[in-house]
Amino acid sequence: MKIAVYPGSFDPITNGHLDIIARGAKVFDEVIVVVLVNVDKKGLFKVEERVELIKRVTKEFSNVRVEFFNGLLVDFMRQKKATVILKGLRAVSDFEYEFQMALMNNKLDPEVETVFMMTNAQYSYLSSSAVKQVAKFGGCIRELVPDEIIVDIISRIKGE
Ligand code: PNS
Repeated sequence: MKIAVYPGSFDPITNGHLDIIARGAKVFDEVIVVVLVNVDKKGLFKVEERVELIKRVTKEFSNVRVEFFNGLLVDFMRQKKATVILKGLRAVSDFEYEFQMALMNNKLDPEVETVFMMTNAQYSYLSSSAVKQVAKFGGCIRELVPDEIIVDIISRIKGE
């Protein structure tokens, strides 16, 4: 059974993330989406909330699980007996950051391989940070994130 782990901050999940999850679920027997702590980012949603939002929008996929882990990705991978990290690549600008993380993870655990999927061109401009900015200034986030979580994002940004 080939398990892929799809890691990220997911603050919040976007349609770009969801596209990678859907495609990953076709390629691998199981995809474990894991919300990890990125020490460089301050969160809009608590990690437990991010997990709940991701579960809500991935419930149609029988081979997708969602978890939270506070620690190194490679330690999570060992716990799950998984060796494949799934990542999406949007543009050349992502490459350096992703290249560094893939090499670091492989250095920490040589069994671990990172597999990149090219993002759907439709989502190449999309990021969680951009979604938060658009929402903060009253722009429309429909088509950027799944419909089921639009209200959660707008309410949180408004501080409700
Ligand atoms: O969505 P992001 O913020 O680009 O995801 C980055 C993330 C969370 C995958 C990365 O920060 C991470 O793996 N954090 C866990 C700590 C870790 O394992 N770091 C080593 C890789 S450099």
